[in-house]
Amino acid sequence: MRFPEDVPTLTDSVVTLRAHTAADIQPAYDVCQDPEMQRWTTVPVPYEWQHAEQYLTEFIPAGWREGNSWAWAIEYDGRYAGTIDLRPQEGNVGEVGFAVAPWARGNGVMTRALRLAVKYAFEQGWDRVTWRAYVGNWGSRRVAWKCGFRNLVTIPAGGVARGVRKDEWVASIARDDEPEPQGNWWKVPVIETDRVRLRPLRGTDAKRVAEACSDERTQKWLAGLPNPYQLEDAEGFIEGRLELLASGEAVSWAIADPETDELLGNVSVFDLKNRIDKTMAEVGYWAHPEARGRGVMSAAVRSAIGHAFTPVEDGGLGRRRLVLFAAEGNTASQRVAEVNGFTRTGRQRAASPGRDGEFRDLHCFDLLATDQRPPMSPGKSPRTP
Ligand SMILES: CC(C)(COP(=O)(O)OP(=O)(O)OC[C@H]1O[C@@H](n2cnc3c(N)ncnc32)[C@H](O)[C@@H]1OP(=O)(O)O)[C@@H](O)C(=O)NCCC(=O)NCCS
Repeated sequence: MRFPEDVPTLTDSVVTLRAHTAADIQPAYDVCQDPEMQRWTTVPVPYEWQHAEQYLTEFIPAGWREGNSWAWAIEYDGRYAGTIDLRPQEGNVGEVGFAVAPWARGNGVMTRALRLAVKYAFEQGWDRVTWRAYVGNWGSRRVAWKCGFRNLVTIPAGGVARGVRKDEWVASIARDDEPEPQGNWWKVPVIETDRVRLRPLRGTDAKRVAEACSDERTQKWLAGLPNPYQLEDAEGFIEGRLELLASGEAVSWAIADPETDELLGNVSVFDLKNRIDKTMAEVGYWAHPEARGRGVMSAAVRSAIGHAFTPVEDGGLGRRRLVLFAAEGNTASQRVAEVNGFTRTGRQRAASPGRDGEFRDLHCFDLLATDQRPPMSPGKSPRTP
């Protein structure tokens, strides 16, 4: 192909993919100064003017001429807003790479650009387009998910940036795949009540998570927790919640003090992809020792239940049935189930492994969306010391 005259212009009327021009060097240089850009891509650091100049005036035209890389400038709101490229590989497949300027992010620009590029790839006879990103690049993963990329896998040390190996996510879309999101990517809604605020977990909660999970009672009843439970375990737990959301498996909230926003505990609705029953879920929780005995968890579970039973079209999880398990002797946990209207359905014998090597019975509870739920008792304010 000749550059730039043979470069196809692709547009959906909001975003246009077009050939790069010399006028794009300055904004392309600016984009590459962005720390996010440097973190998640292989651009040279420090990024100098000559890098942008060479990339736009030599590398990109050569890619089109030689047919080994098709890079477009993304035009949005009348300006250069980023670059997307397709790299054909042997056997009618290839890879896509992209970046958008910080000022243009969060407007659906990359989702639009990726849709256009993928459509073009299939029109050119590709059978499959592959996306790769370093693990943790949630923005990129969400763009790929929105455009129908699927079968995501993590390849340890699969990528390399400036000589350093990094874990990599890889997903792809085939020609006959519907270019639509596959599976749910749940959101964590903020739920405010007078007693508790349910909100997404944040990195700054790690210290309180570590305190809560190294507490003796938490350790006793959640025997699967690491011991000792350290700050890194808490950080891993918080980051891991994002994976559960993105893969559709669970929604997990920080239970926070409505006034100070300090973490009081955690409540999760999980097993959302249960193989046998896609309308059920399990409820699980733990409280920070300072938050116990004041009705915090009962109130938090109540809000979580409300979200679980809300239809998907209204922003909820569309559940029909919830289950909850508490070990023999864990009366506080059983009480949380009962005050929320769960029915005790029986016990599994010797089903709950303890740290002492004993197996306790597990009390089983369930709650149907059609069950009458008891009104909330006034209880004590969570702020009562
Ligand atoms: C990743 C990137 C391309 C996203 O571009 P964008 O134009 O902001 O993406 P869009 O607006 O089309 O869609 C972004 C979606 O991801 C979500 N998103 C963005 N950043 C996110 C983050 N850090 N965590 C979770 N979701 C995120 C947005 O909310 C939006 O979803 P929604 O429409 O459902 O709300 C952009 O941030 C970027 O250029 N980053 C630096 C370079 C890079 O990482 N390139 C990809 C290398 S693999």
